[in-house]
Amino acid sequence: MSVHSEIKKITTETLRKMKFDKEKITMLTAYDFTTAKMVDAGGVDAILVGDSASNVMAGYETTLPITLDQMIYHAQCVVRGVDRALVVVDLPFGSYQSNPEKALESAVRIMKESEAHAIKLEGGSEVEESIQKIVNAGIPVMGHLGLTPQSIYQFGTYKVRAKENDEADKLISDAKLLEELGCFALVLEKIPAELAKKVSESISIPTIGIGAGADCDGQVLVYHDMVGMNKDFTPKFLRRYLDLYSEITGAVSQYVKDVKSADFPNQTESY
Ligand code: KIV
Repeated sequence: MSVHSEIKKITTETLRKMKFDKEKITMLTAYDFTTAKMVDAGGVDAILVGDSASNVMAGYETTLPITLDQMIYHAQCVVRGVDRALVVVDLPFGSYQSNPEKALESAVRIMKESEAHAIKLEGGSEVEESIQKIVNAGIPVMGHLGLTPQSIYQFGTYKVRAKENDEADKLISDAKLLEELGCFALVLEKIPAELAKKVSESISIPTIGIGAGADCDGQVLVYHDMVGMNKDFTPKFLRRYLDLYSEITGAVSQYVKDVKSADFPNQTESY
């Protein structure tokens, strides 16, 4: 008999069932072991090793510079910290757009080298063949439509997408295509709530929204934003649960004072 307590791991099938049962799905980003452990312990259903690591961890202005090797490194760190959540890893810009063979190779590298559970990529009909090839290889794929940050230079702005009929119609047909291709879920980023509702009701796979209203089947936020580590990023869709920027800078300045005044370390903190 096993002495290990059984942790019920979240799978792509669990997420599908949650949509069916109308139970909301929760997802947050993580890029390192310690954060992944806390986020998993907090009970999220899925952890996204997002290419937002390019902004949040590396300080780049966009998600474009991060490499496949760097994404694999972040994914390895996260996987080691997770017991329960489904770990999804972004295919970074340039690792899948050129051809389906390259897309499959990149997805296989992520799965093999990090032991994550699924990959995510941006786009609809433009990446149809790549999605098909990755799904055919048995790798779970999460789609991503709406404001897809890897296309920021084409969009020219981080404003809400698909407000016009043409773009909204394409988004709906892309969502249906991603479902047909076998994606297990779909991120909808920064689109009108009404459109996200329509998409969520017209496909059987779960939609996970960020800036896409309350009718998505789940929600995702960037961890560093929701704990208030990034004081300059204040989009309307963001709810901050902590003000860690102030907490941490306050703690650091107290430490500086304590060392300068020879208050730290005291006798009980010494050997
Ligand atoms: O990279 C990321 O963090 C994402 C989320 C914003 C969905 O793609």
